[in-house]
Amino acid sequence: MSYWSWDPSLSVGVDVIDGQHRRIIDYINELDAANLARDKSKITEVLQGLVDYTITHFSFEEDLMLRAGYPLSDSHKKVHEAFIAHIHKYVEQHEQGVDISRQLMSELQIWLTNHIKNDDQDYSPYVKKSLNKQQSWIGKTLKKMFG
Ligand SMILES: [Fe+2]
Repeated sequence: MSYWSWDPSLSVGVDVIDGQHRRIIDYINELDAANLARDKSKITEVLQGLVDYTITHFSFEEDLMLRAGYPLSDSHKKVHEAFIAHIHKYVEQHEQGVDISRQLMSELQIWLTNHIKNDDQDYSPYVKKSLNKQQSWIGKTLKKMFG
């Protein structure tokens, strides 16, 4: 049983974004598995991957919103920045030997669910409308950001 499963209520109607949200959920499930196995080096590795991937995803989403002419792009970006700063505090605690996995997973699940269902679904119509024009940018940027 995984800790958290993606479900259609979390869809923003944009495949490339849904795919990235699913990957974040996969990371959270990997963190759960590493935590249950009490594998500290695996926890460190997954945590780093989760944080790096989330930062890259936010940056991709911010560029996409901006290109789509979404009027609340700036405030959405600030929400991302505040959340990243918050996550970095967890990473620091982990580096100091504090067991943060469960609290982090639970907070990520609550925060992401709210964020996707409110902030992300709000930009959805703008991004969907501009999607045809963005295809070549999306292809290039995915390669550049995610390899
Ligand atoms: Fe977002």
